[in-house]
Amino acid sequence: MNIKDLYIDFFKEKGHKQIPSAPIIPENDPTCLFNTAGMQPLVPYLMGEDHPLGKRLVDYQKCFRTNDLDEVGDTTHHTFFEMLGNWSLGDYFKKESITWSFEFLTERLNIPVEKLAVSVFKGNDLVEMDKESADIWLSLGIKKERIAYLGVDDNWWGPASVLGPCGPDTEIFYWRSKEKAPEKFDPNDDNWVEIWNNVFMEYNKISEDKFVPLKQKNVDTGMGVERITSILENVYDNYQTSIWKDIITKIEQFSNMNYEDDSRSMRIIADHIRAIVFISGEDIRILPSNTDQGYVLRRLIRRMIRYAKKINIDINSDFDIVLANMIINKYKNYYPELERNKNNIIDTLNSEKRKFVKTLEKGLREFSKIIEHTDKIINKDLAFKLYDTYGFPIELTEELAKEKNILVDIEGFKEKFKEHQEKSRLGAEMKFKGGLSGNSEMDIKYHTATHLLNAALKNVLGSHVHQMGSNITPERMRFDFSHDSKLTKEEITKVENLVNEYISEDIPVVCKTMTKQEALDMNAEGMFIDKYGDVVTVYIIGDISKEFCGGPHVSRTGNLGHFKIVKEESSSAGVRRIKAILE
Ligand code: ALA
Repeated sequence: MNIKDLYIDFFKEKGHKQIPSAPIIPENDPTCLFNTAGMQPLVPYLMGEDHPLGKRLVDYQKCFRTNDLDEVGDTTHHTFFEMLGNWSLGDYFKKESITWSFEFLTERLNIPVEKLAVSVFKGNDLVEMDKESADIWLSLGIKKERIAYLGVDDNWWGPASVLGPCGPDTEIFYWRSKEKAPEKFDPNDDNWVEIWNNVFMEYNKISEDKFVPLKQKNVDTGMGVERITSILENVYDNYQTSIWKDIITKIEQFSNMNYEDDSRSMRIIADHIRAIVFISGEDIRILPSNTDQGYVLRRLIRRMIRYAKKINIDINSDFDIVLANMIINKYKNYYPELERNKNNIIDTLNSEKRKFVKTLEKGLREFSKIIEHTDKIINKDLAFKLYDTYGFPIELTEELAKEKNILVDIEGFKEKFKEHQEKSRLGAEMKFKGGLSGNSEMDIKYHTATHLLNAALKNVLGSHVHQMGSNITPERMRFDFSHDSKLTKEEITKVENLVNEYISEDIPVVCKTMTKQEALDMNAEGMFIDKYGDVVTVYIIGDISKEFCGGPHVSRTGNLGHFKIVKEESSSAGVRRIKAILE
């Protein structure tokens, strides 16, 4: 039996009513392009509105995360995915929620308790340690060594959007390894994979740092279908499960290559075609465009075509239509809109492909010419030409450039794009990366933290460190920099401590306008110095950092809160990537 049916039946037995998956496009939240979690369409009910079907709900929900788009290609990431969820809207709470999750996993899915571990919230200034959940887990037979107590980064969930319902959670982990599961649960050991998240949504985030109790205590749980399927089928690569096997086999046939020859390209094609089918198969028709969801759809289709070409698939063939039909058939019993909107899906693919295929070949030739004459940066004019004349979404140019270790002047491109739009009076606004642009209070804080991190890295690792890229969302910052080797634990701690020292010194952040020559004379740093005019702004943070930058920034470093590195990894040859948060 399909995992979705098992799940729905189980929670129906426990008094839940099934609700259909909401559309992938949020119906009443203009701050989000897509639903990213099962609870998102339920926000009004978590806030206290009565749901017509009562207080216990269960569903499988279509979700899409743009943040993961660049990471697709490994064994675990997807853009589109399905989330199983059950909810209590002010009805049952921790005891029933945890007990039923445990019962479903151990008795219906027959997962041995020896392979499970859990984490619970360790408490902070606002909310005390979640001893209640830990006691429930103990009573069910989870050993105390298998319970980890973690902070807000790990065991606090939400809000899904900027403000709204959130709360502490307890997460369930599965030991995925051929080795025997260790007695003690180490959340940093990658063999422990998270399979289910039970959130106790009691709070409403009403501003940047203010939380108030919600009218009612809710439960919101989420389990990814792809992850649990890989566990039940005992495979380590999501794309080798029954969900994808036939799609991958078809891609192998079209390309005349084996999965092992270029599994990354095949995974990207498989992921993207499914996402394309689900987005263009909505009743509210989404067409490829240069804004919002339409832009994401355009990127997915063009990126899929480019990877198809990479593995020698004849992109003028109907390979995409064949794959789309396979996806529609696979999912139509669960999502009847796909069958209903089949013609829209096919039309969208055909017309967008026609547009792109015409120029792709020429564009790739142009790209090769560009990089013959460039050793560091693709300037804004060339990036814009690839966009305007050859239909390359800027992210595609960026990705092609990255493969050759070359940067793209993204900021310059954005300026040029805006100028162009103003000129042609289109007036539409383009949304870059993870969705909405703009400067929220958190964006601004992360922006300043980026300068501090750059300075701390130079201090700890050496003056060879230079910024190679950065990306900010209200939830986190990402920073790419030149450095050859993986950072040690000690180095990471040193960098973290140093940034926190800069923060605790509460140094003013000063913006100075000067000539470019003056800025160069004072050794100000900057990524795209050539693109600046004769008069520039430099942000100066005490004697710690001087950078060419347009801002905006916080007025003092003390405003940033606590800085924490959550991940350090390779970005490309000679470039490392750090993800960090402010808490
Ligand atoms: N909303 C929670 C999540 O997405 C359950 O993990």
